[in-house]
Amino acid sequence: MDHAIPKNLPALLPIVKYGHPVLVKKAKPVATVNEAVLRLIPVMFNTMYAEPGIGLAAPQVGISLRIMVVDVGPDGKSQPLALINPRIDARKGHIKSEEGCLSFPGIQVTVPRAAYVKLSAINEKGFPITVEAEGLLSRCLQHELDHLDGVVMIDHLSMPQRLKTLWDIRQRKKDGLW
Ligand code: NI
Repeated sequence: MDHAIPKNLPALLPIVKYGHPVLVKKAKPVATVNEAVLRLIPVMFNTMYAEPGIGLAAPQVGISLRIMVVDVGPDGKSQPLALINPRIDARKGHIKSEEGCLSFPGIQVTVPRAAYVKLSAINEKGFPITVEAEGLLSRCLQHELDHLDGVVMIDHLSMPQRLKTLWDIRQRKKDGLW
């Protein structure tokens, strides 16, 4: 039952790594922004900041629900954003840049993304919101939304690049770095 939010949430949740089945599964929409969702969101932010990371999707903490948090403030300023049931309404342009993922410790890959995205979602207060983003925020939002669809960053790679990354992961496991 990975759609349920545990009753007793710790202050920080463990991050699941690539290889865990929850990461390749399509997450379930949140039916109502209830008390359990409101308890989960701050724990997701705390977990993300502790790593540290700039984005975290609920499946990465083993909860297969369509919830994600990001904080990509300009100039290092904090700009926390919680998105429930997010959807991409528009995308424009193409960029290719390096990405990492908390579920792939130590791995960096170059992923093609849209340069601009417009998203709609529900926020933690249950209100509909729209987010327009470019640059790092745009990339981060696309990366986290992928997690909600069971897609991880290496799924965007060519087969040789993917195999190379899988080999790197195997090495990291062997070296105790995974
Ligand atoms: Ni990720």
